[in-house]
Amino acid sequence: MTDPGQRLRSSLADQAASTGADFDSPIAMEAMRATRVLHAADQEPFPAPGRIRVISVANQKGGVGKTTSTVNLGVALSLYGLRTLVIDLDPQGNASTALGVPHNVGTPSIYDALVGDSSLSEVVHPTTASPLLSCVPATIDLAGAEIELVSVVAREYRLRRSIEAYLHSLPADQQPHYVLIDCPPSLGLLTLNALVAGDEVLIPIQCEYYALEGLGQLLNNIDLVRQHLNPGIAVRTILLTMYDGRTKLADQVAEEVRNHFGDLVLDAVIPRNVRVSEAPGYGQSVITYDPGSRGSTSYVEAAREVAQRGVHLTPVAPPAPPARPAASLDRLAFADTDAATVPVAHPSRPEERA
Ligand SMILES: Nc1ncnc2c1ncn2[C@@H]1O[C@H](COP(=O)(O)OP(=O)(O)OP(=O)(O)O)[C@@H](O)[C@H]1O
Ligand SMILES: [Mg+2]
Repeated sequence: MTDPGQRLRSSLADQAASTGADFDSPIAMEAMRATRVLHAADQEPFPAPGRIRVISVANQKGGVGKTTSTVNLGVALSLYGLRTLVIDLDPQGNASTALGVPHNVGTPSIYDALVGDSSLSEVVHPTTASPLLSCVPATIDLAGAEIELVSVVAREYRLRRSIEAYLHSLPADQQPHYVLIDCPPSLGLLTLNALVAGDEVLIPIQCEYYALEGLGQLLNNIDLVRQHLNPGIAVRTILLTMYDGRTKLADQVAEEVRNHFGDLVLDAVIPRNVRVSEAPGYGQSVITYDPGSRGSTSYVEAAREVAQRGVHLTPVAPPAPPARPAASLDRLAFADTDAATVPVAHPSRPEERA
């Protein structure tokens, strides 16, 4: 069976040949963008990172594009030659849906690795998006994990240990270059497990008025994790999502975020694009669903930047987990009431502006 990229390329070539396509028309331009996206994968693979990158895609605010970004970055990285594992850590199972991976009750899933004794290799599934992309799905069972994990020994390290064991079980040429973790919209034990498992956080920020609210609390929690559980963790990437170029507000939010986070913010911005929201309904990423759309090309650009930034990373020995002060841990795992100071200047309300 040919891969989706190949199928799309040949179908586009057939269409162009049969219609004698006029390459100045908007449809032909889009088709050309599509072939560029997919052909480039053969000619210019993305550079491999200096070390395996475990990136948690986190933001406790709901609906900001965590899942969409995890899935599309994962597909782009894999179509451009990098082995990628997506771990769905959200009981909603949206990343599993978008990658066409079964996640009905009873499917071996991340729950079995976190709460049970399964290894990741027993719960990992291939995807149709790319032979280089695999996914550990989440089933609704995961909704109970927040409670079930409370009494488990070293509950914050469950995901980290699973990923480490999985990586060690694979020969070097089969280890993923990227592990992307799609976090749920909360700061509970599941997100805490992701922050302990990875060395990087990618925060998608929606270009909307309320986008920055709650960000301080997330940053505060990441600081606490760094102090007590995972000294290597840091926010390394900010991705602006659902940018609507027709509104002033989107520009203002983007500017605020860039002023505050500087180089952490990717140059590529993901536009609000209807094809992005349609794709999961077909069990696909926008990159395979409509490769020439703005949503697709933006995610490919974002993934390219992520890959280029990873080239200079040097391998590190995993740090020994520090002793855990129980009091701050409890605060960390369940901190959802204690609003931290938001260190990000918030754009003034639209009506306050001239
Ligand atoms: N660039 C975009 N253009 C249009 N729609 C988008 C875009 N990105 C995401 N969406 C849509 O917005 C909704 C929320 O996106 P997504 O599920 O990725 O957010 P999330 O942060 O993972 O949400 P949750 O917090 O519930 O897990 C989805 O319906 C998705 O299809
Ligand atoms: Mg999600």
